[in-house]
Amino acid sequence: MSSAEHNTNTTGWPTQPGVHAGFADAIGNTPLIRLNRISDETGCEILGKAEFMNPGGSVKDRAAKWIIDAAERDGSLKPGGIVVEGTAGNTGIGLAHVCNARGYRLLITMPETQSAEKFATLRTLGAEVIPMKVVPYSNPNQYQHAAGRLAKHLPNAIWANQFDNVANRQSHIDSTGPEIWTQTSGKVDAFVCATGTGGTLGGVSRSLKRFNSKVKIYLADPQGSSLYHWFNTGELKATGSNSITEGIGIARITDNLKDSPIDGAIYVEDPDTVNMVYRLLREEGLFLGSTSGVNVAAAVQIAKQLGPGHTIVTILCDSGHKYQSRLFNRQWLTEKQLDAAAGPVSPSLLDAESQRVLNV
Ligand SMILES: Cc1ncc(COP(=O)(O)O)c(C=O)c1O
Repeated sequence: MSSAEHNTNTTGWPTQPGVHAGFADAIGNTPLIRLNRISDETGCEILGKAEFMNPGGSVKDRAAKWIIDAAERDGSLKPGGIVVEGTAGNTGIGLAHVCNARGYRLLITMPETQSAEKFATLRTLGAEVIPMKVVPYSNPNQYQHAAGRLAKHLPNAIWANQFDNVANRQSHIDSTGPEIWTQTSGKVDAFVCATGTGGTLGGVSRSLKRFNSKVKIYLADPQGSSLYHWFNTGELKATGSNSITEGIGIARITDNLKDSPIDGAIYVEDPDTVNMVYRLLREEGLFLGSTSGVNVAAAVQIAKQLGPGHTIVTILCDSGHKYQSRLFNRQWLTEKQLDAAAGPVSPSLLDAESQRVLNV
């Protein structure tokens, strides 16, 4: 463990339950939220793990902490060192917080197509961010390979390598899975989530199957991703055209995903994702990003397959704040022909006489 974050309690002030020793210690133990309308409609308990309530705002805080902890433990990350990562955003945000709290510098390579809010947030947090052209994984200039090369080149630097560093998956074996098991008192029939690195699915699946091998594990896959076809046929091949979702959907089997105990795959198209994001906002009071929409839409499909009376857990990955310029922008949705899926804009509450009442 690094000293910066952990040895600051010099007064001997007692640590109470719920009081955390620094940023990283506050990661995890997120609430499990019953999605009331969706549960009542399906006759299943559909529960969302509120990962947007992590201190850095997403499920990827867990991976960031475990990756840094592992590098400190094995001695590769030394005091004052540099962390380099290729990220679509949230892992970078989690890493930026942990790096700040522990005295490391952070260098990020990110596909230039990611939202402006993500670039701005990372830079505000103090990371140096390099936008990268979008090229296939096989191209050496793909953003992840570039991150690996920079980490080798810079002195006292490590590559977080979230895709193939299984400390990512381990975070969910050690924390998310056991939390779900405890929070449901072991009454969980199915778990579903989409994959970016496969860390969440790879880790939670292993953890829940160890508690009870009968828990069904489902992979949720957005359009444009290759895993739905891979699960059904063994061949990595995209289904449908590119998705508007950010941070999920892949075309290879990462080390974090490899050999995960998966029982089924659910395909989710963008209109269903957008529709679910807006339902979660209007009907459940939850302001969430697109990947949460994929996950809950998949959970509803599973509820229909399994029938009433089952408990299905999924992940509410991050909040909607980073997506105001896209997912929550009507003009952008219209350009993507997804406006109808979002549903009608609420009519104004003000009638003709309201201006007179407003300005007396
Ligand atoms: C918003 C969001 N949802 C889901 C995921 C996927 O999680 P994992 O990388 O554990 O598969 C990510 C990954 O970056 C993400 O940023």
